[in-house]
Amino acid sequence: EKEKTLAMIKPDGLFGSYTNAIKEIILDSGFSICKEMTIHLDEDTVKSFYAVHSSKSFFPSLVNYMTSGPVLIMVLEKVNAVADWRAMIGPTDARKAKVTHPNSIRAMCGLDSQTNCVHGSDSSESAAREISFFFKEASSGIVEGTH
Ligand code: CMP
Repeated sequence: EKEKTLAMIKPDGLFGSYTNAIKEIILDSGFSICKEMTIHLDEDTVKSFYAVHSSKSFFPSLVNYMTSGPVLIMVLEKVNAVADWRAMIGPTDARKAKVTHPNSIRAMCGLDSQTNCVHGSDSSESAAREISFFFKEASSGIVEGTH
């Protein structure tokens, strides 16, 4: 049964011109891109999206990073989309990804445990929450993308 997940190309991914390469990998892997939007996230939106990490020492730095430029947010769909996208992006720490998952997206374009180029929902519950966060909720202050 088909499933949806939320994927994001983070500011370093857009700055580094990895968008086309990543989209090609996504489509070659059998995902369809149901929705997409490019947006420059503001501080409040990042804080709310990553609220689960708000007590972590890296949180202020994460907010800074995620507001440093635009991101590309996509809803991806295919069978087993959540687990497959997580496997394709590789471990959170891109330095580790380069060693243990050299073919992963984070190995290709990430830098370290923060600047890791892409995001993927970690469960189907997270996927549902994250998709509605960006594409349904008027309260997020974000206008829905046109795709
Ligand atoms: P992401 O998978 O989008 O989820 C939370 C983000 O917080 C993560 O990618 C990184 O960008 C960042 N992050 C996670 N762990 C660390 C860490 N140890 N140090 C700095 N940033 C981190």
